[in-house]
Amino acid sequence: MMTKAKNLPSKLPYVGTTIFTVMSKLATDEGAYNLSQGFPSFDCSPKLSELVCHYLKNGYNQYAPMSGAPVFRESIAEKTADVYGISYNPETEVTVTSGATEAIFCAVTAVVYPGDEVIVLEPAYDSYVPAIDLNGGVPVFVTLDAPDFKIDWEKVKAKISPKTKAILINTPHNPVGTVFSKEDLDCLAEIIRGKDIYIISDEVYEHIVFDGEVHHSMMTHPELKERSFICNSVGKTYHVTGWKIGYCLAPAALTKEFRRIHQYITFCTVSPMQFALADFLKLPEHYEALSDFYQRKRDRFNEALKASRFTFKPSKGSFFQIVSYEKITDEYDYDLAIRLTKEIKVASVPVSVFYKDKKDDKLLRFCFAKDDDILDKAAELLCKL
Ligand SMILES: Cc1ncc(COP(=O)(O)O)c(C=O)c1O
Repeated sequence: MMTKAKNLPSKLPYVGTTIFTVMSKLATDEGAYNLSQGFPSFDCSPKLSELVCHYLKNGYNQYAPMSGAPVFRESIAEKTADVYGISYNPETEVTVTSGATEAIFCAVTAVVYPGDEVIVLEPAYDSYVPAIDLNGGVPVFVTLDAPDFKIDWEKVKAKISPKTKAILINTPHNPVGTVFSKEDLDCLAEIIRGKDIYIISDEVYEHIVFDGEVHHSMMTHPELKERSFICNSVGKTYHVTGWKIGYCLAPAALTKEFRRIHQYITFCTVSPMQFALADFLKLPEHYEALSDFYQRKRDRFNEALKASRFTFKPSKGSFFQIVSYEKITDEYDYDLAIRLTKEIKVASVPVSVFYKDKKDDKLLRFCFAKDDDILDKAAELLCKL
């Protein structure tokens, strides 16, 4: 007789169901407005779905090449050159992945060996630390403090050791909505100069920056470009988070190892969408209008929230706004997020979940990539607290 399966020992014992899944499910169960998980409540451009239908119906349904459909890689390289004036070779330096999450995982796996240290600036997106841990690496945290979450580069420098292999950065930042300045890039270059330290740069919100801010990609700094795996996602830019399509830009020498890993994680990414995106990326109108589109949403939500007891500084990038509830209650942020979903019917994400030690600064994160009526209604309900 078969014995009953036992629980496996875990390589990620601290990991449970992610907060995004928990809050989205709770929002559905409670009939709450879901401003928790980072995805738009609206659809992608009809032109983009038409293109997908076209390729679906015309025989583009088999495995794409391992590194991505050549036309898509070319289109990514052209768009990158148009936006930043920087060239990447589509043959050897652009790799299509199944979301930025896969790109980040492959980049970490490419460089991190057991015992290597990786600097992580906290709060941090939740996939970074598990990727480091699964590779036997050691995350070394530098905490960014509320309310400004500015990077203290002296603190970062103090954490660099002979074992430091990489630094993981994210600009524009989820959850706190900060963006790197040009000076940040210079400081980063200075502290890693002459050291074998790689940069894994998560730039998925590259086209969502506000109030005239500029996104300073790692590729715009020649020294940083040479060491960077720039991880990106079409999900956030084209309102297609469910497609899980991303890509990595990296010098050929780094891409070579990146592709070795990617080859045995997913091998390749969903095919017809790549062809559709290859065409759609050629139209700059969409991504050029994106910052204004989201700035209007941020302002609409924030304006309505001014009548509440929450306090906040407007987000500078990404589609998230963090707010402080210090003046309202001293509840643990996780408990408050659950209570707000059940009682006020608005779901958010507690910012403590982005820290390894669950640091509680009394902050909640709201996603404003939602239709205006949802933002209006959610803000009205939040004003009742
Ligand atoms: C900072 C950041 N990086 C990466 C991702 C994941 O991107 P993808 O869905 O393309 O894997 C997200 C999604 O929320 C994110 O916010």
